[in-house]
Amino acid sequence: MLRHIISMRDFSRDEIDIILAKAKEFEPIARGKESNLLSGKILATLFYEPSTRTRLSFETAMKRLGGKVIDLGSIESSSVAKGESLADTIRVIGNYADAIVLRHPREGAARMAADYSNVPVINAGDGAGHHPTQTLLDLYTIMRESSFSGLRIALVGDLKYGRTVHSLAYALSMYHADMTLVSPRQLQMPEVIKKDLKKQGASIRETTSIEEVVSDVDVLYVTRIQKERFPDPAEYQKMAGSYRITGELLEKARDNLIIMHPLPRVDEIDPAVDRTKYARYFQQSFYGVPVRMALLAMAMEAA
Ligand code: NCD
Repeated sequence: MLRHIISMRDFSRDEIDIILAKAKEFEPIARGKESNLLSGKILATLFYEPSTRTRLSFETAMKRLGGKVIDLGSIESSSVAKGESLADTIRVIGNYADAIVLRHPREGAARMAADYSNVPVINAGDGAGHHPTQTLLDLYTIMRESSFSGLRIALVGDLKYGRTVHSLAYALSMYHADMTLVSPRQLQMPEVIKKDLKKQGASIRETTSIEEVVSDVDVLYVTRIQKERFPDPAEYQKMAGSYRITGELLEKARDNLIIMHPLPRVDEIDPAVDRTKYARYFQQSFYGVPVRMALLAMAMEAA
């Protein structure tokens, strides 16, 4: 069966655990050990929005597994600029590649693309919707650098427009994590997602104050205010710089605290924090490689 990766809702807890275990097996290859598991396979990357980590870690994962990558390149230089629809682009590229990684500004674009594709579509972010592969690497980071047992986590920043936290909160509810949502009132987690989390039996509370939670959590998951999603730039200006993680704030942190961030960061984590024992965001970005290896191997039926 064609297995697309569109949303965390498509996964059971057991399936997630299998992916995380597979990723662990791929770690030596992510660090450079040779492999030809995906030789002869081609991955297509289509990014209709900017990306550094997601695109390059997919590409790294594919190449370290012996596969090849074709890339749509910039939207301005592709037929998208001539007005080609996403559906047509997907139909064509599905005849070239064995899987498609898609990032698109429109919520629901990946689901729609999957309807037209004869190869697996992997959602690398659809507007303010979902970002399931980021979530899997976030879960992997928690598994490797912290623990799911009794996990207390604060999701901080732009919880309205941030797609990483939408996917992550849903997944964390499957791990029975104790979640605190920290955001300005205007950027709270959308009601529909909160309702869903509660239906899953999740324990969540909301606050606007990071000071209130910093001493209580094992993981601080910090996010960027999503400038590009604000209909009104003046509204963004009001929200910019709402939170900043500094050494001073961390004086109250638990000893075992880890700080995660999907990156890119703007100014929400003081660079001086990078040198503290709490910082894990660069390690987290590395974990994107073994996790995406596991996903590619599964999508291409090699694992
Ligand atoms: C995130 C995204 O694109 O949603 N980046 C990423 O994939 N690591 C987070 C962001 O852009 O703020």
